[in-house]
Amino acid sequence: MYYTNPWLIDLVRIFDQNERKGYLRLDLNENPGGLPADFVKEVLSEVTPEFVAQYPETLEFTETLADFLGTDISHLCLTNGSAEGIRYIIQAFTSENGRVVGVVPSYFMMQLYSEMYGRKFVKVSYNDDLTMDIWHILDVLTEDTQLLILLNPNNPMGNVYSEEEFQTILAECRKKEITILVDEAYHYFYPETFINYALNEEHIFVTRTFSKLFSLAGCRLGYVAGWPEGVKMVQKLCTPHNTNAFGMLFAEKIMKTPGMLEGLIERFTEGREYLIRELDAHGYQHQGEAGNFLFIEPKTDAVDLVRRMKEEKKILIKSYENVGRFGTCLRVSIGEKKYMEQFLKALFELDR
Ligand SMILES: Cc1ncc(COP(=O)(O)O)c(C=O)c1O
Repeated sequence: MYYTNPWLIDLVRIFDQNERKGYLRLDLNENPGGLPADFVKEVLSEVTPEFVAQYPETLEFTETLADFLGTDISHLCLTNGSAEGIRYIIQAFTSENGRVVGVVPSYFMMQLYSEMYGRKFVKVSYNDDLTMDIWHILDVLTEDTQLLILLNPNNPMGNVYSEEEFQTILAECRKKEITILVDEAYHYFYPETFINYALNEEHIFVTRTFSKLFSLAGCRLGYVAGWPEGVKMVQKLCTPHNTNAFGMLFAEKIMKTPGMLEGLIERFTEGREYLIRELDAHGYQHQGEAGNFLFIEPKTDAVDLVRRMKEEKKILIKSYENVGRFGTCLRVSIGEKKYMEQFLKALFELDR
């Protein structure tokens, strides 16, 4: 008997990844310049035909990562980008028709994965001034909620939760036995973290990625951190050899090369400070710089500006609708200063 999963029939996904070559990509929060070229060359010089031919070895890398995080490997599951980890947490810790609570706007895959598996995704909206009032979250945490998804910082809003806010939310989740997933894809751009909760308590996960500050989006590598029994459930869902050998090789070298992470943060911070200074000087409203992206309220039509940036300047940025008092506005990834100069030159020329 032929069968198609009914949850997939009306699910809309956009596969547009093949149209971005040759553009300055400021639309998906990648590092536009990537890792230093000499570092990439040096790491690649170690790659042998056997390395490419063999299934990836995960143990050594997971141990390095565990040392780096100050934990042990029973708390970690490597995934093919953190998006895969998020999907498995939804699959493992919620049921069909189960209630998943998440803020919107947010990384869209949270909602999409929930719908893909027939979960009820309950949206918590932002205030008009783009702040998130935790009481809005607490209000919808019913007894039958199975999973709460928080992003710290959130993409695209850039807001963060204080320790006190997180503890209030956590207490409510404990009372109602709700698993918490904290997405920390933008950790390092924003140094505070809730990973210690995930490593020391149960029913809290943190997902992280090597796609952002580590600049390895092309290698697809992320991880889930949590309590050992929970991590085991996530591991059961993984496809065999789901992680990428190149991703692990690069990530290990980055973690072990003194000054590498600091250098990435320094170049990024210089770009961020420059971008904000220039936007302020030109009278632009902006918000949300806790991650490697920024909301900017343009002076002309945002959708048209995105189109013209692409067609006339070969620069990719995104527009978002209904962003509180900003209305429809731009989201731009932040990178090294030279890319911010290129973006701002184009913005000041087109946005008038
Ligand atoms: C908030 C957030 N989480 C997760 C991801 C997924 O990243 P990856 O699958 O590359 O690790 C992204 C990607 O942009 C994101 O913005």
